[in-house]
Amino acid sequence: MNVIVLLGPPGAGKGTQAKLLAKALGIPHISSGDLFREAVASGSALGQQVKSLIDSGELVPDNVLLDVVKNRISQADCKNGFLMDGTPRTIPQAEAFGDLVKRMDGQLKVVELEVPEQLLIDRIKHRSTESGRADDNQEVLVNRLKVYWKQTAPLVDFYQKLGQLIKVDGDGTVEDVQKMLLSRLS
Ligand code: AP5
Ligand code: MG
Repeated sequence: MNVIVLLGPPGAGKGTQAKLLAKALGIPHISSGDLFREAVASGSALGQQVKSLIDSGELVPDNVLLDVVKNRISQADCKNGFLMDGTPRTIPQAEAFGDLVKRMDGQLKVVELEVPEQLLIDRIKHRSTESGRADDNQEVLVNRLKVYWKQTAPLVDFYQKLGQLIKVDGDGTVEDVQKMLLSRLS
């Protein structure tokens, strides 16, 4: 059972590539950001708890994230593998997630999408005109990038040491990046 993680800063193309990849591989695409945005939109207790964090580009606490992820990956559609978009994002999340995957007898592959910072900014600026996301504005993006470099980027080293890291150049057309992902994951 294959478990794929897409790692990369805001605007790297995690969501864009994950949708295509999940379809090509026939496994569900799980975006923690989408799960939280759905919770916010529904006005649930979880949504109320995480709204101000998401709107300001801060991370949701690890224990809250892990509860949501545990619940999602225990569903039947994940039993033949799944694709994580946006999780894990901290070292404690990576450790706990690794344990969950082991318990499911899963094989973990982590893809880092590498994209130059100016391109990330341009992409999010472009998306902000249509996404309706409260965190798609210049000020919050600066914070999301800061949070990424401080809290999430150390995962690159973490997974490299475990021999689970695949680096993919995310600066290309959507189609070219997808082709590269499929070839590196096969
Ligand atoms: P999340 O939803 O994961 O947001 P993010 O990491 O900031 O990333 P984005 O969704 O902005 O970018 P993406 O890499 O998916 O790029 P996309 O494909 O859209 O998280 C949001 C929030 O939720 C966090 O800030 C946090 O509060 C919370 N959260 C989520 N997970 C958490 C966790 N594990 N722990 C704690 N908190 C968590 O592409 C961007 C744009 O570029 C699009 O317009 C797209 O069309 C375009 N584009 C993509 N690829 C290309 C290409 N190759 N060429 C040209 N344009 C492209
Ligand atoms: Mg996304």
